[in-house]
This record gives sequence, structure tokens and C-alpha cells, in this order.
Amino acid sequence: MEFKQVLGNRRSIRYFEPDKPVEKEKIQTMLEAANRASRSGNIDYWKALVVYRDDLDAETLDALRVPTTTADLDLAPVQIYFFADCSYADPANFRKNLKELVTLGALNPSHGWSDAYVDENVVGQIITPMLSDPAVVGWMGTIETGLAISSAMLTAVDEGLGCCLHAVNMETAKQVFKYPDHWIPCWTLLVGYPAEDPLTGGQRPRRSISSLAFMNNLDTPFEEDPAVTEKLKAQGLIQNEIDADKRAAEVRQLARRFGLPE
Ligand SMILES: Cc1cc2nc3c(=O)[nH]c(=O)nc-3n(C[C@H](O)[C@H](O)[C@H](O)COP(=O)(O)O)c2cc1C
Repeated sequence: MEFKQVLGNRRSIRYFEPDKPVEKEKIQTMLEAANRASRSGNIDYWKALVVYRDDLDAETLDALRVPTTTADLDLAPVQIYFFADCSYADPANFRKNLKELVTLGALNPSHGWSDAYVDENVVGQIITPMLSDPAVVGWMGTIETGLAISSAMLTAVDEGLGCCLHAVNMETAKQVFKYPDHWIPCWTLLVGYPAEDPLTGGQRPRRSISSLAFMNNLDTPFEEDPAVTEKLKAQGLIQNEIDADKRAAEVRQLARRFGLPE
């Protein structure tokens, strides 16, 4: 699928084909995409735990439920728990990885980079003080895990899967999966083949970019060029918003099919 079409087609999917297996190959593809996301100092913050729903007992599955994650858990065949591993954010790892990037020509002498520059200017003056604040390490790690999640989600769409990020009961998750204390949980991605229209009847509402982005100063909204908007519509990035009535009919049908409340 064309990249802009993938971006435009992504929706939070909440009705999955519960018994249609998700190929491990597709999960691997999503994880490889996550692993290609950019990262400061080439640091491996993101971690993921892939869990196949049917490998959990019914009691555990139920205990993962929270008010925003209900039937989704029963329907999605795969859960991917994403974390930010803050232990990797160590000055020694930054030093090692940045020097590797210098050697490989990803960071260049033309811009001032050298092994000495990594030691003295970057790790010595910037990275080490930053990493001494756990709050800073936390935001660095969670942002980077977010980048990885985003790539995985778009890849799911490209692979014909549906997905949705979710909160789950992390007390249960901690007890069951015993992830280390220095891993910050960053949402759980439910994955499966959509049982609903993968385009959910249209895109979910978004406020215009001119209300969100600015040009040169914060008094000047970023003005959309209508010709560009039309081009993006033709390329599938911007799509029609949901028709609520049509969608309601589909949701009723799905609820009946799965024996869920209407
Ligand atoms: C970080 C994050 C957490 C979310 N948690 C939940 C959740 O717990 N339950 C849920 O039904 N949807 C959850 N969502 C999905 C959003 O509600 C959804 O993105 C929103 O309705 C917009 O729809 P779209 O993703 O189709 O554009 C979450 C989305 C994000 C990005």
C-alpha cells in the first residue's frame, strides 16, 4: 500500500476476528518496523512483549480488563505490551553508540563530530547531566517507545491487520509478566484481523492543522494550501469523516454478532 494511504487508512480497531490467527510473521514485521524508528544516541529504549490471547487463562485475561478495555481483550488474538527500558540510558551506552555512528559516517566531522567530541562535548556536557534526572530519562524513553509503537501500528495496517492502543490493568500485567521495575509500561497494542470495516466508515474527527501548528511565531497559524489538501485527499491521507448513522448500523450488527450489549 502507498505510504500516505497507510497513514490515512489507520483507525483504532475495536472489533477483531477473534478466531482468525495472526501470523507470527506479521508480528515480526511490525517489530522490525518498530526497530527502525529513530532513537537518540541509537539507544534501545523500546521493549515489547508479545502475548497471544489464547496462551492466557480466562482468569488472567479478565484481570487485565479496565473500563476502557473490555470486549476488545476477548476479541483481539494478540496483545503487544510496549515498555521504555530506562536502564539502557547510561552515559557509557551513549558514548559507545555515538562513537559507532561517527565511525559509520552517520555523524560527521563536517558537523564537529569525532570520538573526542562525543566524550567531552556530548556525553560529558549534555548526556551525563541529563541522565542524572530520572524524569528526563522517563520522557526520553517513553517518547522513543512511542515512535516505535507508531511504526508498528502503521505496519499492522500495511499488513492488513487492525490494531488499537489500550490501557490494561498494569498491576495484573506486572504480576503475570514480571517485567522489571526499570521498564515503564507504555500502553498495550491489541492486534488482529478487523471484524469491522477496517476504515470504520470514515476517519475520526481531527481539528485542522491551522489550529494546531504555527509558522515562525505562535501568533501565526500554519495556513493550509487548499491545493495540497486536495492532493492529500486524492492520495488517501485525508479521508471523509465518519457518517455516524451508517456507523451505528454497523456497530449494532457487530454487537449482535458477538453477543455484546447494543
Ligand atoms: C496512547 C493511547 C491510548 C489509548 N487507549 C485506549 C483505550 O484504553 N481504549 C480504547 O478503546 N481506545 C484507546 N485508544 C484509542 C483512541 O481512543 C483513538 O485513538 C481515538 O478514538 C481516535 O481514533 P483513531 O485512532 O481511529 O484515529 C488509545 C489511543 C492512544 C494513542
